[in-house]
Amino acid sequence: MTTAPEKYTTTNSGAPVESDEHSLTQGDAGGILLHDHYLIEKMAQFNRERVPERVVHAKGGGAFGEFEVTNPDIANYTKAHFLQPGRKTEMLARFSTVAGEQGSPDTWRDPRGFALKFYTEEGNYDLVGNNTPVFFVKDPMKFQDFIRSQKRQPASGLRDNNMQWDFWTLSPESAHQVTWLMGDRGLPRSWRHMDGFGSHTYQWINAQGERFWVKYHFKTDQGVEFLSQDKGDELAGSSPDDHRQDLFGSIEKGDFPSWTLKVQIMPFADAENYRFNPFDLTKVWPKGDYPLIEVGTMTLNRNPRNFFAEIEQSSFEPSNFVPGIDTSPDKMLLGRIFSYADAHRYRIGTNYQQLPVNAPKAARYLGTYSKEGSMNYRFNDPDQPVYAPNSYGGPHADTAQQDGRGWEAGGPMVRAAYVSHAEDDDWGQAGTLVREVMDDDARERLVSNVSGHLLNGVTEPVLVRAFEYWRNVDADLGKEIEESVRSQQSDSAESTSLGATTPGDEAETVK
Ligand code: HEM
Repeated sequence: MTTAPEKYTTTNSGAPVESDEHSLTQGDAGGILLHDHYLIEKMAQFNRERVPERVVHAKGGGAFGEFEVTNPDIANYTKAHFLQPGRKTEMLARFSTVAGEQGSPDTWRDPRGFALKFYTEEGNYDLVGNNTPVFFVKDPMKFQDFIRSQKRQPASGLRDNNMQWDFWTLSPESAHQVTWLMGDRGLPRSWRHMDGFGSHTYQWINAQGERFWVKYHFKTDQGVEFLSQDKGDELAGSSPDDHRQDLFGSIEKGDFPSWTLKVQIMPFADAENYRFNPFDLTKVWPKGDYPLIEVGTMTLNRNPRNFFAEIEQSSFEPSNFVPGIDTSPDKMLLGRIFSYADAHRYRIGTNYQQLPVNAPKAARYLGTYSKEGSMNYRFNDPDQPVYAPNSYGGPHADTAQQDGRGWEAGGPMVRAAYVSHAEDDDWGQAGTLVREVMDDDARERLVSNVSGHLLNGVTEPVLVRAFEYWRNVDADLGKEIEESVRSQQSDSAESTSLGATTPGDEAETVK
């Protein structure tokens, strides 16, 4: 008589399996029998292990933690329950690169995603930002083109700097973000060593119904640190998951990273005549105009127990607001409000919000009329009506939530740029970043990073536009970049002609 081991393998339906190693065959050399349903279950399950990767921000990592309000005065600006004095809220953070795929190295130069989910009593609040305060484009109509220019060529499947610079130089609004990207902050030492930004302007509404415009800044308590291009390139080969490892390892050993949340607050009425359009995602609000006000601290202290279930299947969406926080006239933000939930229905499935990591687990109450669909397992009490309005005690909307939010707009339907503000041009803030924020060493690294990037496959007509682009940002910088590229081109042409195997092979592009 055999005794079953204490922990035995089962099928998905819970029945004990006969072998972990051998398929069922007719004799040891026979064909495999179709009714070996455990073998079929294993193969079928394996084929379905992946969900599509995120179309952008595919490579990332994350952790859970808590957010604690440290400044009681913040309640003057928002009635959001989790931002009231002394509150502590469980949260999830996911960091990522933008253009690379699932297995791509963490240390490619790219903005980093900084996505946060706060499990609040009023439902989940998501803030889906980056490690930069601005973005490449200011209208959602251009986002898809922008991303395609950063990804891969259709025929070769190769990434292509020429596409990137072609798009950027034809989109001058990208200058501010490209200056960030090519500077030190485009290659953070780790996710723990970078700041995070909500980037967009959001709206806050306080208990008295007053509205404010707000920008979020998460300042790393670990200090901002970056990698040189050479170090980033080296780690891309030797330690492709470096940033994922850094975060996981540091939490594992009890070294919990934290960030201090600060906000810039603009009185509602200031927006109209502010010198920059406050809803233009390619612009910052100088801190001299709107100083940083501390709000609280976010600490990451718990690693996921299962990367797939809790990080890969996590879904962050800018449409997840709570009372006291709302949208603004930023067109990029308004475009994103549609995009994310749509992406999640496709990527994870209709009922993605029922997965434990995405569910509003701290919400006091869930009164949704959503029902059924693929993989639905949440259902309401059978006594609850399935429609609204009803006269049988089902949930009904809290119409007071409409009060005081939004903004006033009017005019004919148009497809147009933003109404202009005094200092709207695309180059000004990028130039200020180069001249007033960067020191000489940082500027030198910027020149080296840009010229290195331009020397990798960018065609002559695009190169010429790129020099012009950088001269528009800053005349001296543009000159230095052009000189650096041209001198490296002639060095490489000289060495090519000295050692040329195919004479006359004067490629238009420089490798
Ligand atoms: C991810 C769309 C602009 C930050 C995504 C995803 C989509 C998307 C479809 C994948 C979602 C998923 O499958 O889970 C868009 C569109 C944009 C836009 C249409 C502009 C119109 C931005 C901007 C930021 C940003 C301006 C930052 C300020 C992120 C982050 C993620 C992401 C951090 C990854 C979230 C995660 O960790 O799961 N975006 N995006 N995106 N986006 Fe955007």
